[in-house]
Amino acid sequence: MTKNQNSSPLFDLYWENTNLNDKNILNFVNNFVNEEKDIGRIKYPTNDMKLDYPKDKLFEIMKNRQSNRKYNNYQINKKQLSSLFSCFAKIDNHRLLSSAGGKYPIEVYALCFNVKNLNNKIVYYNYIDNSLSIIGDCKNWNDLKAITGAEDLIIGEPSIMFIFVGFPNRVVSKYGERGGRFLLIESGHYIQNLLLRIAYEKLKAVELGGLFDNHIKNMLGLKNSDAIITLGVICGK
Ligand SMILES: Cc1cc2nc3c(=O)[nH]c(=O)nc-3n(C[C@H](O)[C@H](O)[C@H](O)COP(=O)(O)O)c2cc1C
Repeated sequence: MTKNQNSSPLFDLYWENTNLNDKNILNFVNNFVNEEKDIGRIKYPTNDMKLDYPKDKLFEIMKNRQSNRKYNNYQINKKQLSSLFSCFAKIDNHRLLSSAGGKYPIEVYALCFNVKNLNNKIVYYNYIDNSLSIIGDCKNWNDLKAITGAEDLIIGEPSIMFIFVGFPNRVVSKYGERGGRFLLIESGHYIQNLLLRIAYEKLKAVELGGLFDNHIKNMLGLKNSDAIITLGVICGK
């Protein structure tokens, strides 16, 4: 296959078919009404070995992770901001995250609503030197929530919204269609790292799976790239 040939036409098609926007969001949400309540637990007819829960700090943090949908305009400070972005760092030439083939197709952006010295700024995290690039301005949460798919669910204003952006070419060029799968899995690694750090900081968070992809992509200045918007996480107090 030559370099210019599309390595993952089916992943591209799948992505297109899962796009959300102001036209199809109602259809998406209406399907929730028929939601199946039984999530299908597995129970084998065996004599099971009982395990113990760890009694350590890491497990305490894991227990404290939960989704919160009520925020109070809290202004996060630089220490907290640094703590949150540290989840995605590269330290001693090593990322805190694993990645298929070391291709690292995920990049982290954030919209700062209530962040000291960064109010209404869009930032990009440079993992190599652990810094934030200010790449533009954004509106307040209240003016943006309509494109998060969570307009009616979130009460009050969060401090910051993290956006996990995938660059499929980095990974499908090596792994073809399966690279699309890896990219989505890796986005989950970033988010879980962040959610645990948020729990450690005693802040609140919830993932937002209904972002209007193209609106967000354009806002980040990525319109003419292969970027895909995987998920958002709002955080605050
Ligand atoms: C991929 C993904 C997408 C999600 N999207 C949303 C969302 O759009 N809005 C929301 O309120 N919660 C969202 N959630 C949060 C789940 O509703 C929540 O994790 C689940 O109900 C379990 O509750 P807990 O996180 O408090 O343990 C999402 C979670 C995941 C993993």
